[in-house]
Amino acid sequence: MAELIAVLSGKGGTGKTSVCAGLAQALAQSGEQVLCIDCDAGLRNLDIALGLSQFGALSFLDVSEGGYALDMALRHPLYPTLAFLTAPVSCPAEQIDMEAFGAMLDAARSTFSYVLLDAPAGIDAGFRLAAQFADRILLVTGPDPAAIRDAARAGDELERMGKTNVRLIVNRISKKIASALHLTVDDIMDKSGLPLIGLVPEDDNVTMATAFKQPLLTYTKKDAAAACRRIAKRLQGMKVPVKI
Ligand SMILES: Nc1ncnc2c1ncn2[C@@H]1O[C@H](COP(=O)(O)OP(=O)(O)OP(=O)(O)O)[C@@H](O)[C@H]1O
Ligand SMILES: [Mg+2]
Repeated sequence: MAELIAVLSGKGGTGKTSVCAGLAQALAQSGEQVLCIDCDAGLRNLDIALGLSQFGALSFLDVSEGGYALDMALRHPLYPTLAFLTAPVSCPAEQIDMEAFGAMLDAARSTFSYVLLDAPAGIDAGFRLAAQFADRILLVTGPDPAAIRDAARAGDELERMGKTNVRLIVNRISKKIASALHLTVDDIMDKSGLPLIGLVPEDDNVTMATAFKQPLLTYTKKDAAAACRRIAKRLQGMKVPVKI
């Protein structure tokens, strides 16, 4: 029975797609059956972060409303246990049939062990689409005070939706930034009002990997890739300490 995990932020460009792709690879590498869904209708790019941009993939709409079977989802050539559904290009999130989307996710629960949903920026229809059916939410933020405050606002919105299993990921953190901002793990949790599940360092490899059309964890094992592996282990219930 799959756990449905939505990767959200509120603020744009915090690294949702990169982190979602890294976690999907890490989980698949450890043998989990993973379905990764790009929920960013119109502005999709999870295929790029997964190194799948040169392959044709069905969209979630093809499956939820188009009559295609879920097992026709694109399988990753490097990770056989990782399946992928892209987002539709020309259907705004407001027009997506939530009931049909939920039914597709229910079907996915019996085939996969993790379903990861990569949300668009903002806290409107796309945010709700990704969050609505999720068992667990990962809020991705940057380390700066404005980003952490935005994450707290997204956390409030999730509370209004009745979502309680929310964890924070601070992306693009560096020792220099943490010490300049006098930022500790406890500070981050106090300021955001959210428990932390992981930190991902600033790492040029995240952008380099996409430039070479490779998924991050194939491109490198270090830094951001290693951080994604540690967060994936925590998602699997293992105890891995969080340190800045
Ligand atoms: N840890 C990191 N270190 C360095 N660069 C990063 C890191 N994480 C993400 N980036 C870069 O930041 C940019 C935005 O990342 P990404 O597309 O994952 O964010 P997003 O939150 O999904 O954006 P959007 O809100 O537009 O969907 C990309 O160019 C990506 O390569
Ligand atoms: Mg994105």
